[in-house]
Parts: sequence; C-alpha cells; structure tokens
Amino acid sequence: MKSSRIPGFYNMSVDERRKLLKDNYDLTDEQMRNLSNNPSLSLDKANNMIENVIGTYELPLGMGLNFVINGKEYTVPMAIEEASVVASASHIAKIVRSAGGFEAKSRERLMIGQIQVVGCSDFKDAKQALLNQKDTLLSAANDAYPSIVKRGGGTRDLDVRILNEDANSTYSQMLVMHIYVDTCDAMGANMINTMVEAIAPIVEEITGGKVYLRILSNYADRSLASARCVIPPYLLTTGDFTGQEVRDGVIHAYEFAASDPYRAVTHNKGIMNGIDPIVIATGNDWRAVEAGAHAYAAKDGQYGSMTTWSEDEAGNLVGEIELPMSVGIVGGATRVHPLAELSLSIMNIESAAELAEVIVSVGLAQNLGALKALATDGIQKGHMALHSRSVAIAGGASGEMIDVIAKKLIDQKEIRVGKAKELVEQYKQ
Ligand code: MEV
Repeated sequence: MKSSRIPGFYNMSVDERRKLLKDNYDLTDEQMRNLSNNPSLSLDKANNMIENVIGTYELPLGMGLNFVINGKEYTVPMAIEEASVVASASHIAKIVRSAGGFEAKSRERLMIGQIQVVGCSDFKDAKQALLNQKDTLLSAANDAYPSIVKRGGGTRDLDVRILNEDANSTYSQMLVMHIYVDTCDAMGANMINTMVEAIAPIVEEITGGKVYLRILSNYADRSLASARCVIPPYLLTTGDFTGQEVRDGVIHAYEFAASDPYRAVTHNKGIMNGIDPIVIATGNDWRAVEAGAHAYAAKDGQYGSMTTWSEDEAGNLVGEIELPMSVGIVGGATRVHPLAELSLSIMNIESAAELAEVIVSVGLAQNLGALKALATDGIQKGHMALHSRSVAIAGGASGEMIDVIAKKLIDQKEIRVGKAKELVEQYKQ
C-alpha cells in the first residue's frame, strides 16, 4: 500500500507530480495520456453524453494527500476551481493520520424508488392491498432489471405511506409506495427508474388508483455513510493558539452552525467543498449528493450542521459526519469519463460503499480545515497565500519566480496583478 503522505508534492512541477503518480499507482500509458490530453473527455464522447454539445469544460484536478481511512492510505483526486480547498483537506488529513486516521462506515446501501398513486376510493384499503402483494411487486421490479439480481442486488423491501390524510390538508390525498433496492456498486438511478416505471401498471391494478410519478428519490437515507476522527489537542496547536483553544473554537463554531441556519449553510458549504470535488472527479452526480446532503441536514426539523464536534473525556476533539451518499463506481459517467476511471483507480476503490466512506471522510476533514482557520487566524491568511501565487502567475511570474513574487505581494500587502507585473519587471532586471 503506497503512502498518501508525499512530502514536497506541493512544490513539484505538474510533470513531476504526474510521474510520481504513474510510478506509485502503476498507471497505464493510456491513463497518463488521458490525464494530459486537453480536453481529457473527447468531443466525440461528450457529444454522446448530452445534447447540443459545443465543447467540454475543464476544472483543475488536484490531489488531496495524507488520508488514512479505516487503516488504508488514500490520495484523493479532487476536481475544483476554488483555491485552498485541496491544501486545507491535505493539511487536516495529515493531522488526523497522526491521530490514527479516520474511521468510516456505510450502514447499508439501498436506493429508494417512489411511486405516487392518487384517486383511490379508499386509501387505507389500497395501502393494505399493496402490502399484501409485496412479494409480487418486488419480484416484478426485479424482472424489469434482471442483471442486478445476477450481480447479487435487487429489491429488498417496500413500504407505503398515505400523505395528506387530514381532511383540512392543502394538498390532495395520495399513496406513496417506496421500493428499496440494493443497487450494488451502481448509483442506480436508471435501474430504479426502470423498475418503478415497470411496476406502475401493477400498482394501478392493485389500488384502483392512478399513478403519476415514478422516480428515484435523491433523499438516499437508506444509503448513509459516516466518518469519525478523534484528535488530541496537541496536534491542533496553530501559531499562537494552544491545541485546547483550537479545540474549543471548533466546538463553538459547530454549536453556532447547529443553532443558526444562516451559519449552517456556510458551514455545510465548506463540507461540500470537500465532497463535491471527489463526486465530480469520479463522474458521479453531484447534484444528487448535494440535494440529499442538505435535506439530511434538516432531518430534525431545522436546517443544521452536517457534522458534530465535541470533546471526549480525555479532552480530545471528536468529529463526526453522517450523510446520504448515493454514488457508484460503475455505470453513468464513472466509466465513460476517462478521468473518472483514473480517479477511481488512483484511490484503488473497490466498492461504492468504500467510495462513500472516503467522500464523507474528506467532507469531515474539509469542515475541520475551515473551522480551525476560522477559529484562529481567519481564512484570509491562508487563502491569500495561495491566491498570491495565482496573482504572481497572472502578473507574468513563472518557475522559481512565482514563490518570490507571491511572498513580496503578501509582505507588501498588495495582492494585485498590477503590483505583480511591477515586481516581475524588477525581478527580471
Ligand atoms: C469557503 O468556500 C468555505 C467556508 O466559508 C466554510 C465555512 O465558513 O465553514 C470557509
């Protein structure tokens, strides 16, 4: 197992980083070509993926380093346009690896399909009739997608709810039937949609009602992944702040998010800064993950924090996260986009559950990165240090000059392209 700790990665040239990856992860020549092709996704493939294609759209792909999750080393590909995110995730992962790494798990992996039935003459009877025909319905759904059954997955259960039973309800009464499907290593949207569309006529026959919607639910609360880390305070010491101060600051920051939706949205946005880039890099549906995660953050009636931070009896900082994680490692773009395939192979991911566990761990790390910075120096210091490099490059700096100009921009507290141009000219002379 190759260590995800790669000192000096930050200072290498892109070519040096690519060579190191190739050697470390036995990447093939074709994978390397895909990494350096611009665009990596061919126009031909793109044109077959969506409609009205005019090109492809690129994002920086960086490596989140230092991750140890359930004892396994992970270098994590992250596709994102925002500076500081990859650096911050790697910084926290380094701290957490010194504390034994992240522990992560997936409780179960069932995706949910919904069927909406209206106009039943007696909704209670219709509900009972569906429950009586459970086996018939589940096996008809499996028949609509036999390949998943061959792979060891398929329907596992169903339930039925009556919505808007109250006579004063604003909305009409309806039945909603859920089927729960083990989609194995696929996210399973097509599978679920095929199944619910196939059994809708049977549902109409059984209930005497009319079916309208037949669709996957992105509230994947039967596909939860969680992660946890326990960090002794001495590992949190930051500049003039003691580890205890940082721990307490992080806990206060969490309590702020837990009690105020205005803060919770920003707090959770920071968590999604870690989650989305992996979901995107692996060709998964980040809108589905986003929608499910935010809904889960409101499961107790008020929109709150996706993480919790507390102090254990030994004074350690304990971080926890649990989110619906509807991702796959087969199907969709995961095997069509060459960089998605590459990202999965760099991480050496063996199952969708494992990918989900990595994703939530990085989300937890990203959250701590933000809270630790916010509770100490503020985020602008680190952000500006990185931003100054982009500004130095925009001002014409290259190679070794970049760090020199970036440092001068920070020292002179003028991080502007005009100033960078001036400094580059002076440097050249
Ligand atoms: C910026 O992209 C993310 C943060 O705002 C997250 C947070 O405030 O927790 C720094």
